[in-house]
This record gives sequence, structure tokens and C-alpha cells, in this order.
Amino acid sequence: MRHLIDPMDLSVEEIDEILNLADDIIAHHEKYEKVCEGKKLATLFFEPSTRTRLSFEAAMMELGGNVLGFSSSDTSSAAKGESVSDTVKVVSCYADIIAMRHPKEGAPYLASMKSDAPIINAGDGGHNHPTQTLTDLLTIRREMGRLGDLTIGFCGDLKFGRTVHSLIKAMSRYEGIRFVMISPEELEIPEYIREEVFLRNGLTYRQARTIDEVIGELNVLYMTRVQKERFFNEADYIRLKDTYILDMPKLKKADKGLRILHPLPRVNEISVEVDDDERACYFRQALNGKYVRMALIMKMLGLEVQ
Ligand code: NCD
Repeated sequence: MRHLIDPMDLSVEEIDEILNLADDIIAHHEKYEKVCEGKKLATLFFEPSTRTRLSFEAAMMELGGNVLGFSSSDTSSAAKGESVSDTVKVVSCYADIIAMRHPKEGAPYLASMKSDAPIINAGDGGHNHPTQTLTDLLTIRREMGRLGDLTIGFCGDLKFGRTVHSLIKAMSRYEGIRFVMISPEELEIPEYIREEVFLRNGLTYRQARTIDEVIGELNVLYMTRVQKERFFNEADYIRLKDTYILDMPKLKKADKGLRILHPLPRVNEISVEVDDDERACYFRQALNGKYVRMALIMKMLGLEVQ
């Protein structure tokens, strides 16, 4: 049985297969309507979510399967003091596959050691978010037509943003990726990403403090929210939260082919006027998240259609 805890649990070939399947689901949705009949997905969310949980649930429903679960730890036995391992051990008797989000780094990994069903990490603290990464890769591939030879700028909270950490890892395996890291000093990428991803693979990246100085070079701009819930001190959050606001004047210097991604939720970091620009693809990205999760569920359950 395989789990998906870290984006690197999937090889580049497996990622390709999942993205190809997602493309086919988009093109021939009706072929897939019954593939999960009789199967159940449990969504165990110990931390808030809109897109990830609902897109998992919509994905399973559109495959003809059923869903069960909880959307906050207060409505589960975690509130009574049950361990994550016990919760998962029990839920794995009721469901064929489990998507789990938890504020503690490593919680889905621990759960996977006890589970009798495959576990998908739907976000663990500031660590990983592999299904958002699949969503991002599908979006970049559909928008740009390729996953290599791209200059990608990551902007915002690169320290606590798990979507950033997972996408950097995944992108580091494609040829010709130029990374640009745009953040204040306090929110730079963690040391372990610098060492394990960049140094170990002999990759370099450019660092910037403003969007303005690099936007003209970018093919993809990945905006992120400052992760309020991971700050120890509210004053620091308030000081840093509005460091970057992407608006139409800032886009003047950008290429016509630039693609702007954001895992969402957005707070202030992209002005709503940008939504109507053809370069904004965060809402298409959110839709892609459902299709890629359909593909992932099928792969993890070993299901195919002819
Ligand atoms: C992200 C997450 O939860 O890490 N959202 C998502 O899953 N689409 C990003 C965020 O919360 O900022």
C-alpha cells in the first residue's frame, strides 16, 4: 500500500501519468463517472480548509464514490484527547482512502504507519502539501505547455508556506528551471529547503525583495498569503502581511505570457482588479485541483477505465 506524504513520494513519471489522466478526465469527464462506485474517501481535516477538502470531496463524488469525514478537530474525538494514530486506525476501517490535513508537521506520516488505507497528506503544518503541488503542476503544464525551461518566481511567505516548499521540491526535478525567491528577510525559504533541494542538486536561485525588480523576467509568478496561523507573534504578522500586493501597475512590466498562480485563499496579496487579466490563473488552478485529485484517487486505488 502506498501513501502520498511528500511530493517526492511520486517519481517524475508517476506525476506525468497523473497529469495525463487529469487532462483526459477534463476532456472526457463522462468516462469516469462510475469508476469509484462503492468506494469511500474520508477527509480528516484537523485544520481549516475550503478548496482542498471540498475539491477532494467533489472529486470523489464525480468519480461515483462516497465521502465521509470531519472538517475541524473540535467535531472529532481529537477534542476528547484521541491520538491521530488511533483516529486514523479506526477511520481506515470505514474508508478505502483517506485525505488528512493537520497543523503538526509529520502528523500524516505518523498516521500512515498505523493506517489500513492509503493516506494522502492534504497539508501538514508549514511542511508539505503534495496535492496542491499536483494542482500547480497541472496548471503550469496546461497554461505554459511545459514543465521545464521556465523562470518561476515565488513571492510572499516562503518560510511557512507549505505549498511553496512542496512545489520547489517538485520543480527542482525538471530541466532548465530558474528559481526567483521574492520575500522579506524574515520570510525567506527555510534552511532545509536551501540545503536539501538547492545545494544538494547543485541548483541556484535568485533572491529579490521586490516584485518590481524581477517581474519582467518571469514566466510564472506564484503568489502566497502570509501564513498568519504559523506566526508566534501577532505584531510580526501585522508588520509583514501586506509586504507584497500585486496590482495592475506592477503588471505593466510583466510579459504578456506571464501566468500568475496562487494556491488561495488570498488575503490582500493580489488586488481584485488583476482577476480579469488573462494572466491571472488562480481560479482555473482551483478547478484543476479537483481534476488532479480525481486522477490521484484513481491511481492510488489502482482503478482504470478503458
Ligand atoms: C494553502 C494551504 O492550505 O497551504 N491553501 C490550499 O490548500 N489551497 C495555502 C494557504 O493556506 O495559504
